[in-house]
Amino acid sequence: MFRRSERARQPGRCVAIRLDGEVVNVPDTLSVAAAVLHVHGWRGYRRHLDGTPRAPLCLMGVCQECLITIDGLPNRQGCLEPVREGMVIERQGDDPHG
Ligand code: FES
Repeated sequence: MFRRSERARQPGRCVAIRLDGEVVNVPDTLSVAAAVLHVHGWRGYRRHLDGTPRAPLCLMGVCQECLITIDGLPNRQGCLEPVREGMVIERQGDDPHG
């Protein structure tokens, strides 16, 4: 399925982001969605209303399963946003308004 690129596996190319209030270092080659998956795994991205996990599906801007709050703006497509140093990311539930 998906594999991390050779560049992403090289050490020393990381940025610090704040994910749900916690500072984490992630490779600078990742999208926001990939960074959250990198930290929390696919079961930790979002939840359906019944509590079952849901996660980004297409990683190319089609499915909308990656909606996330970035720098205070809710419902951003995490798969289309590259991570940046100091970015503030908050995972969302299923409330469409964040
Ligand atoms: S993962 Fe499908 S739109 Fe982002």
